[in-house]
Parts: sequence; C-alpha cells; structure tokens
Amino acid sequence: MIQIFNTIEDINEQAAAVFTAAAQKAISEKGSFTVVLTGGSSPAGMYRLLASNAYKPKIDWKNIYIFWGDERWVPLDDDRSNAKMSFETLLSHVPIPEKNIFPMYKKGITAEDYALEYEQSIRNILGTNGKFDLILLGLGDDGHTASLFPGEVVLKEQKKWVDAYFLTAQNMHRITLTAPIINNAEKIIVLAFGQKKAHALNEVLHGDYNPNMYPMQLIKPHSGELIFLVDKNAASSEL
Ligand code: 6PG
Repeated sequence: MIQIFNTIEDINEQAAAVFTAAAQKAISEKGSFTVVLTGGSSPAGMYRLLASNAYKPKIDWKNIYIFWGDERWVPLDDDRSNAKMSFETLLSHVPIPEKNIFPMYKKGITAEDYALEYEQSIRNILGTNGKFDLILLGLGDDGHTASLFPGEVVLKEQKKWVDAYFLTAQNMHRITLTAPIINNAEKIIVLAFGQKKAHALNEVLHGDYNPNMYPMQLIKPHSGELIFLVDKNAASSEL
C-alpha cells in the first residue's frame, strides 16, 4: 500500500500514529512490542514526534524492544551512527530499559562476528519465528534499503537474519538485517520523501523485477503488511 502526503510533517504524524497503534496493540495482546528502527535522515522527525508530549504518554515504553535495520560500522558516538541519531531524537527521551535496546554496534569485535551475536539477540527476544511487530525502513536514492545495496552478495542471503560486509563504495563495513527476516515482519513502513527518491520509488513499485539493481524490491512480507509513506515529490510518478 502506498500513502501519499503533502508534507514531510504529515508523513511524520502518520508514521508516529502507526507506530503508536502497533505498540498499543502488541503490548495489549502479548505484553511486548518489538520494533526495528531505520537509519538515514528520514526518520528523525518521526522520532522527535514520538518523544514529544503528544505521543510519549500514549506508549508503554518499558515493554518495547528496540533493534536496528542496519548500521554503519562506526562507534556509537560517531555522527554517522544510526544509533546515535536514534538516541538523540528518541531513545534518550523515553523510559525504555537499557536492556531492551540493541544497538547494532559493539566495540572490540568485528562486524561479521557481531552479526552472529546480533542474530542471537534477536532469537532470544523474538524466538525462532523471528517476527518483528514493526520494521521501519528508508529508501536510498539508488533503491537500497537497510544496508541491502545494489549488486552486493547480501541480497542473495536466504538463511542468515543478520549479515555484515565491507561496502567498497562507501569504504566502510555495514551490518544489516537481511530480506528473509525483514519479510517475516507483521508490519513494515517505508519512509521516503523528496524528488531524489522519485526514480527509485517508481522502479521499486512499477519497474521490472530486478532486486539486484533495486534491492527494495526484495521486501515483500510473507503475511504482514507493507506500507510506503511518501510525499508528493517522491511519488511524482503516482500522481
Ligand atoms: C543507512 C540506512 C539507509 C537509509 C537510506 C535512506 O544507514 O544509510 O539505514 O538504508 O535508510 O539510505 O536514507 P535517508 O533517509 O537519509 O534518505
């Protein structure tokens, strides 16, 4: 499903409302809410909104488990860290127990080894079916999502839930959830705005199936829901 909004503020409101409703439903049904945060710049406004007085009191934060969809393999105080942005905009402002937060980075270990550890952490909380209640994703201008970049071997992964590799184009390691675990989710929200996303969004939604070039095409939840929240600039081909 695609929902098109006039402004970024409208997208943020809708994303925060979907997050809140999903958290309330999961916590009332099974006592906890498992959510995957996205990096990049797109979610910052939504995170700030969730931490604001309008949303914060509506959510039972102590029963939320936070994971990430991907991470640049840099220390948690590095400005490129997705976790750093998430703490600054949301996590430092809401009462989530520290033990419920799983940043995708650890000092003194390789990204590849930490990918194995991270998968185990997911199994410990989610069990063997690996079904997140909600996964937030961004869309890169080139059609990537999480750290599933065009042409990379990780796109073919069928078994592992978490993988890490050296992304030559950016001269850095990346760690990422893989398509199989993402597609298990109950609900997936993709945030995309701005003209520079228009080409990729159009290819993802209407182009030939070529996930090696547009990795977002790999995201097709088995039984869950996939919702694109986009603005009219990103969705110019839809209008
Ligand atoms: C990252 C990401 C990545 C991001 C897209 C969109 O760490 O880079 O998680 O997949 O979501 O590149 O980024 P923007 O939101 O900044 O456009």
